[in-house]
Amino acid sequence: MAKTYLEGQLAPVPDEIEAFDLPITGTLPPELTGRYFRNGPNPLPGQDPGHWFTGPGMIHGVRLRDGRAEWYRNRWVKTKEGVYVDDQGTFDLAVVPANTNVIRHDDRIYALVEAGLPYEMSPELDTIGPVDFGGRLTTAMTAHPKEDPVTGDLHFFGYGFFAPFLTYHRLSKDGVLVESREIPVPGPTMMHDFAITENHVVWLDLPVVFDLDLAFQAQGMPYRWDDHYGARIGYMRKTGGPVTWVDVDPCYVFHVGNAREDAAGNIVLDAVRYSPGTFTGMWGHISGSPNPAHEVIGSRLHRWTISGTTAREEQLDDRTIEFPTINDAHTGLPGRYVYAAGGDEIVKYDLTSGAVQTHEATGPGEAVFVPRGGAEDDGWLVSLVFTDHGSDLLVLDAQDLTHVASVHLPRRVPRGFHGHWLAD
Ligand SMILES: [Fe+2]
Repeated sequence: MAKTYLEGQLAPVPDEIEAFDLPITGTLPPELTGRYFRNGPNPLPGQDPGHWFTGPGMIHGVRLRDGRAEWYRNRWVKTKEGVYVDDQGTFDLAVVPANTNVIRHDDRIYALVEAGLPYEMSPELDTIGPVDFGGRLTTAMTAHPKEDPVTGDLHFFGYGFFAPFLTYHRLSKDGVLVESREIPVPGPTMMHDFAITENHVVWLDLPVVFDLDLAFQAQGMPYRWDDHYGARIGYMRKTGGPVTWVDVDPCYVFHVGNAREDAAGNIVLDAVRYSPGTFTGMWGHISGSPNPAHEVIGSRLHRWTISGTTAREEQLDDRTIEFPTINDAHTGLPGRYVYAAGGDEIVKYDLTSGAVQTHEATGPGEAVFVPRGGAEDDGWLVSLVFTDHGSDLLVLDAQDLTHVASVHLPRRVPRGFHGHWLAD
């Protein structure tokens, strides 16, 4: 079986290194003073995790200050070893590869994976340990929490193999887990992301579900497409009350760009949609079971406009993209721009005019928006890209996607998942 998740741009690096005073082409703006951290799976030498998503997490960090690139450093997230679920069905949510995202909230840095607890990391990328917010977090935590730019609250959820399948949580601005409530869904859906709007939380109850037979194989990701599960988007008020569920055409969504309420009170959700066939092809590919008959490209920016109990759907563009990002100050609020990573380009969507700009790059990762503080797109995009010598941290002007600077890293950084810019 081809180990697609150990080859090419996904091939892991064998060790932890660091380098100082990195060479730069172009000029780094002095406002870019902080750290860019990006998480992703990086199996140990000789290790085969069975799926791209289940390798141990490694964070690659680049420290920029006053126009210089002070250091690059990569560190595994050193999570607890042991048994994730024992014979009695008891979970140890600290025994997970914390490999998917790295965020900061209340001045603490967390490595996240949706199967378990967050792991706190130091600004120098040392692993501090798992966090359950004083014992209050009793489920896993999504890797895609949403920080409300108005209140500072961190909205998130946990999903699981067994009931409760979905639990909503809210962490206050100062890091206290102040609310947890169960959200009824029909089964163990793999919910990778969700959305918030000004007044609502938006759920994606989609037909990729837990499969016990796959779980007994004890390798890889025990989830598969289910033609019978149906597909629903739900919304509930942040302040409480029931969820309104709206049937949609079956699809899968890993990543939300943004959601908002429009002037008519509709919920407008922009996210990257996979058709059933595209999901199955992609899932086989990253599980090490590629099927040449299956389509593996075709994840596209898509809009659902939800009015009461009906949803209108439209594809916004035909490019294959992933990792949608925005200016996070617009999370849940009206916004004009979405950025994304295409196969060999970074893409900027102007959702008001319909214009699309692109910047060619080899295998770009998620393009993180770093604000300068003016207009919505006044700032930079930061992304890891492949080069002839390995990898660069690419910095683009977010307004016109022109090249600002490239920080030359000491070696190739495998394609990974998500990260953030942590300003000083
Ligand atoms: Fe993700």
